[in-house]
Amino acid sequence: MQWTEDLCVGVDFIDADHEDFITLLNTARAASDADFPAAFNALAEHARAHFAREEALMDATGFFATTIHKGEHARVLGEVAHFAEHLERGNIAFVRAYVAERLPDWFLQHRNTMDQATAAHAARAGHADAVPAT
Ligand SMILES: [Fe+2]
Ligand SMILES: [Fe+2]
Repeated sequence: MQWTEDLCVGVDFIDADHEDFITLLNTARAASDADFPAAFNALAEHARAHFAREEALMDATGFFATTIHKGEHARVLGEVAHFAEHLERGNIAFVRAYVAERLPDWFLQHRNTMDQATAAHAARAGHADAVPAT
């Protein structure tokens, strides 16, 4: 997956997080089996912080679909934790498939819907250049 300007949602810290997400995802995909667990854990750690920053912005701007957007973040973090357990049991191929086949599509769809709507709302509320609270 490639970062392009087309993926910008208009809030700088969200765009920076999305670029980082894609970089970490690509790093995990390209990693050897020996390096994959650390790369997956780095991606998971990034996702937790990235989602928390968006959630702080939703809270600050009174986003109308905060509950749905937070719920989707929680669902994905649960999924990531589930795959981290598989990784600990050595099921590397299974977790690789999740990273290669499911996460890219999830990210694009999430960016196109909930993240875009959150950013548009923040821009309307005068928070387009918001500084992340976390
Ligand atoms: Fe995001
Ligand atoms: Fe999000």
